Amino acid sequence: MASVSIVVAMARNRVIASGDKIPWDVKEDRELFRDLVKGKTAIMGHRTFDLMKPNLPGRHNVVVSSSDISYGGIVSCRNIADAIGFAQGYGDDIFVIGGASIYAQAIGLVDHMHISYIDGEYTGDKLFPEFSEKDWDVESRQRFAGFEYVVYSRKRK
Ligand SMILES: NC(=O)c1ccc[n+]([C@@H]2O[C@H](COP(=O)([O-])OP(=O)(O)OC[C@H]3O[C@@H](n4cnc5c(N)ncnc54)[C@H](OP(=O)(O)O)[C@@H]3O)[C@@H](O)[C@H]2O)c1
Repeated sequence: MASVSIVVAMARNRVIASGDKIPWDVKEDRELFRDLVKGKTAIMGHRTFDLMKPNLPGRHNVVVSSSDISYGGIVSCRNIADAIGFAQGYGDDIFVIGGASIYAQAIGLVDHMHISYIDGEYTGDKLFPEFSEKDWDVESRQRFAGFEYVVYSRKRK
């Protein structure tokens, strides 16, 4: 079974965006994201899809929306559970790539989280959901210029 992971960049105060804008530009984090998801399957909300449209090639893309989306080879699903179920069919690792509404619905469903903690706090209205580190094992923790990259695995009960 393909693994299902969240990948997100968030400030230390859990901000992931302000309106439609991500209020930082950290090149090494963008490169980590690109390399992680390349050739795999990405699940995203409709708004994130609209913002990312030019950057979709090189992977499978599944969009969560209440309506059908017709754009290239994009598949749309009505909810996150259906999207994960559909994405399993590709046989590749699955990455839930946002935005805020999708992270909130997916955090209870994923096995792993790849979190880039961007240094500092930012003003924004889109937040990553609160979670307790007690529920997660830290697989790795790496320091980069401008951010810390932590990979978590859900603790088995
Ligand atoms: N920092 C990061 O790592 C990161 C990563 C990704 C995105 N972002 C940011 O996050 C922001 C977007 O987040 P967002 O929460 O506004 O939007 P979003 O989660 O990307 O998309 C929201 C849309 O997804 C669809 N949707 C969500 N839940 C659904 C459900 N249960 N059933 C059916 N459809 C559902 C709806 O589309 P319909 O209206 O079509 O039904 C909804 O309007 C942007 O600013 C983006 O830049 C940040």
